[in-house]
Amino acid sequence: MCGIVGFVGKSQAAPILLDGLSKLEYRGYDSAGIAVRDGDAEPVVVKAKGRLKILAEKTNDGAAVKGTCGIGHTRWATHGEPSENNAHPHCSDDMNVVGVHNGIIENYQELKDKLIRHGYTFYSQTDTEVAIKLIDYYYKKYQVGPIDAIAKTMVRVRGSYALAVMFKDYPGEIYAARKDSPMVIGVTGGETFMGSDVPAILKHTKDIYYIGNLEMARLRAGEVTFFNLDGDEVQKDITEIKWDADAAEKGGFEHFMIKEIHEQPKVVRDTINSVVKDVNGKPELDFSSVGLTDEDLAGFDNIIITACGSAYHVGVVAQYVIEDLTRVPVRVEVASEFRYRNPILPPNTLVVIISQSGETADSLAALREARNRGCKTLGIVNVVGSSIAREADYVFQTLAGPEIAVATTKAYSTQLIAAYSLAIALGKAKGVLSEEKITELLTEMQTLPDKISKLIEEKDRIQWFSSKFANAKDVFYIGRGIDYAICLEGSLKLKEVSYIHSEAYAAGELKHGTISLIEDGTLVVGVLTQSQLFEKTISNMVEVKSRGAYLCGITSYGNYSIEDTADFTVFIPKTDEHFATSLAVIPLQLIGYYISVSKGLDVDKPRNLAKSVTVE
Ligand code: F6R
Repeated sequence: MCGIVGFVGKSQAAPILLDGLSKLEYRGYDSAGIAVRDGDAEPVVVKAKGRLKILAEKTNDGAAVKGTCGIGHTRWATHGEPSENNAHPHCSDDMNVVGVHNGIIENYQELKDKLIRHGYTFYSQTDTEVAIKLIDYYYKKYQVGPIDAIAKTMVRVRGSYALAVMFKDYPGEIYAARKDSPMVIGVTGGETFMGSDVPAILKHTKDIYYIGNLEMARLRAGEVTFFNLDGDEVQKDITEIKWDADAAEKGGFEHFMIKEIHEQPKVVRDTINSVVKDVNGKPELDFSSVGLTDEDLAGFDNIIITACGSAYHVGVVAQYVIEDLTRVPVRVEVASEFRYRNPILPPNTLVVIISQSGETADSLAALREARNRGCKTLGIVNVVGSSIAREADYVFQTLAGPEIAVATTKAYSTQLIAAYSLAIALGKAKGVLSEEKITELLTEMQTLPDKISKLIEEKDRIQWFSSKFANAKDVFYIGRGIDYAICLEGSLKLKEVSYIHSEAYAAGELKHGTISLIEDGTLVVGVLTQSQLFEKTISNMVEVKSRGAYLCGITSYGNYSIEDTADFTVFIPKTDEHFATSLAVIPLQLIGYYISVSKGLDVDKPRNLAKSVTVE
């Protein structure tokens, strides 16, 4: 939610800020702004409603705004409509404090009332303006330096935030603070860079500092100092990011989403290789990087998985796979419900939090709730150094690399690998999977990247089919068991990027109401990868066909009579049925992508969405 950048150094700041914001636009894109300072002069603030390119045009790609110190912001509106007035940066009336903010200040109304009583007036509807003016208030009231003024503000403010602020009296300096919203800093070649996420600064440096929760930082050219809430200096270690800067570029593809779909064989292979090692010619699971020993795993009697959106869908797959392979009970729940439900957490429960960004507010809160209740937590996380990665007891690091498209594809696929590996590791530790079975499963898992590649080769056929449904009103996805879990993801992929209403149904539930929605020509996608359930789902497909539905079948069973039933079929390569999601999801991702393309939509940045949801 919202992206922040900052720069101080020898180079001109504005082009660097605009470039950094372009890497963060996936976090929000309804307005953007920069504030740049030339020496002691007052910052020049330029803002624009709409996409970043409008701000770039307004500033002649940054060339029109001079200065070597500045901050920038791309917004996903929470308080106040998207408009130039509400866009960041915000400033105190005398330009004493200028800042940008990511997150939500929950008690902003109370703070605003307080500031109004002290003579402040407000020009925007944002909570950010309140935070900036509160800093200004404490700075002037107590005659303190920036760190103390920010610390006093942090103590008074409730909510989540990452802030970047410049003070009139401190040219060449940027101050940053955070609570529950991410912020990274890099120092290289006498210059200092700041961003909400690694891709914003990756092309400048791979050596990153993470500001801790409730900490602050002072950035000067080539220098950064960290402080705790007491104003004491804090020492930090550098984390080296292994991501390649090119990974955050489109590399010849039209959109990040299709580029990331193509990256799946590689990132799935990398993630498998991180936990499956070749020992004497045989694959063996090695969970040492996760930090979980066989003894730890054997001690868990229950698993609770909690996550949001697509990561939650991985949890639904994991529930089927883990229970079937290990007979350990698994419950899966969306994190926004889990955190407020007073959940029952029996002893010896492992709580698994799945998150690409590692910053999703509800998932992070669920993790903290589980830890407060004394449960051990495992984070399945893509972003190194993210809050969930730092706070979980154990971490399975997925190796998807930077995911830029708002709709997840490659991160989802690597999370599936983490889920399968956890199931196998648990089955091994509990002694319920034989050595032969484990070898068989791991060997099969290693074949998935090549099978995913084969499916991506089907893209032209899928594009042809998808373009017919650009005008669809409703689409339904049906399947049973794991196929239902696959449908959940397929349906989300379609609706979020194409704006076509779609729903996933457990195929057996159709007759309990949904079937009344089927009209002549309604597209129904049936997913059939589970041999036991194939005939049942086929029957449900026939039922909707006889009510006019147009049928697409995604199936691994070419020898059954699917082609007599479905109007369009994608056959997926055979695999162990526990792993079928990794294959069946590929055509579903492609269908979503190509329908969006044929509608001429902004695939990578669908309306109203942001990639990293750091507010509740
Ligand atoms: C959908 C999508 C979202 C995320 C969800 C959780 O394509 O990307 O549903 O899966 O917002 O995000 P993370 O995984 O960052 O916690």
